[in-house]
Amino acid sequence: MAARELGLFLVSTGLALNGCLGSLNTYNRPPPRPTIVNHLENLKSASPQQVHLSVVGEDKMRISWITEAPTPATVQYGTSPGKYEFSADGTTSSYSYLTYDSGEIHDTVIGPLKPNSLYYYRCGVDSTREFSFKTPPAQFPVKFAVVGDLGQTGWTQSTLRHIAESNYDMLLLPGDLSYADLNQPLWDSFGRLVEPLASQRPWMVTQGNHEIEKIPLIHSEPFTAYNARWRMPFEQSGSGSNLFYSFDVAGVHVIMLGSYTDFDPNSAQFKWLVADLRKIDRNKTPWTVVLIHAPWYNSNTAHQGEKESIDMKASMEGLLYRARVDVVFAGHVHAYERFTRVYNGKTDNCGPVHITIGDGGNREGLASKYINPKPNISIFREASFGHGQLAVVNATHALWTWHRNDDDAAVSSDSVWLRSLSSDTACKVKT
Ligand SMILES: [Fe+2]
Repeated sequence: MAARELGLFLVSTGLALNGCLGSLNTYNRPPPRPTIVNHLENLKSASPQQVHLSVVGEDKMRISWITEAPTPATVQYGTSPGKYEFSADGTTSSYSYLTYDSGEIHDTVIGPLKPNSLYYYRCGVDSTREFSFKTPPAQFPVKFAVVGDLGQTGWTQSTLRHIAESNYDMLLLPGDLSYADLNQPLWDSFGRLVEPLASQRPWMVTQGNHEIEKIPLIHSEPFTAYNARWRMPFEQSGSGSNLFYSFDVAGVHVIMLGSYTDFDPNSAQFKWLVADLRKIDRNKTPWTVVLIHAPWYNSNTAHQGEKESIDMKASMEGLLYRARVDVVFAGHVHAYERFTRVYNGKTDNCGPVHITIGDGGNREGLASKYINPKPNISIFREASFGHGQLAVVNATHALWTWHRNDDDAAVSSDSVWLRSLSSDTACKVKT
């Protein structure tokens, strides 16, 4: 290369590098956006609102919704708009919290339903609101949207828009839903915010610290609103609590754990987890993913040293490792971080990939300070709002992508192909 060409090359390379670095340096992390309160609009007192779905077994769906006035917990449904060949009745409950009385909370299980099929439905006696949903597929491929610490801010809206565009089959949420934080009408507001998505696809959730809502001496029962409003299919997996459960969907065994209920070896949750892991049929579900709220691996300065991270990890990490769990998703830290396969603090090819995805859009803002230098087991970390997608292609391969809300556009910013541990002969399941 001639001296002049070399000079040009160096100048242009320098400019390009400078451009890259410049754009990194000048990207201003967005501040939190205020809470959006979704008021009732032209809804009659018996009109269904806050409609959301959760799978029950492999061919049924629970429809959960709320009305201001009493109405039968009946859901009519069918495969064509306006034609409801089937009908099912459910149960109605309510709860009180300080001076707040909830609306009528209805839960109705419908089915059997065909997989990967579109259904139309209406709730109660109101015939003006017709909803529709698609059931998950019975076989691969299946696509999950994964998002924690969702909240109800302008950033939540941005995240929800990106998830809606992702053509997902099921949403997995590792805790911290509404950020109502004792202010119960914000649970209603959250229900209305997520309804356009949650009434169309199953939203499977577990709980975070913002769901506890316990006030010493005044309201001693934890998770009152969460358990009343977000009933999950715990009985079907032999669990005695809405705070931990599991289910199978299209070749994936999903385990939802509770970071804020007992997890020591004598606890109901621990014993249930041992039994649940033992029941996994790798021929039927080659993949196993686990959701918790407080991350067991975290190189952000936020939420270090909490017992829900340290003690739960000490109690349960060995169980998940020996069962060859593929991925552990967590929230709590308001940022994104992906670790390598890890066990007991070190890289281990037979351990789960740990991913923190607590960046849905909460009102508290981002956790932007990291421990330096970056530990070797941490592969990618960034404090931006966003969501993740886990596309499980077949029994052996899945594509994980993290989508940053980059000035409100969903930008795929981290991705990795994962291979199932059940297909890795070097990682036999240990019982
Ligand atoms: Fe949290």
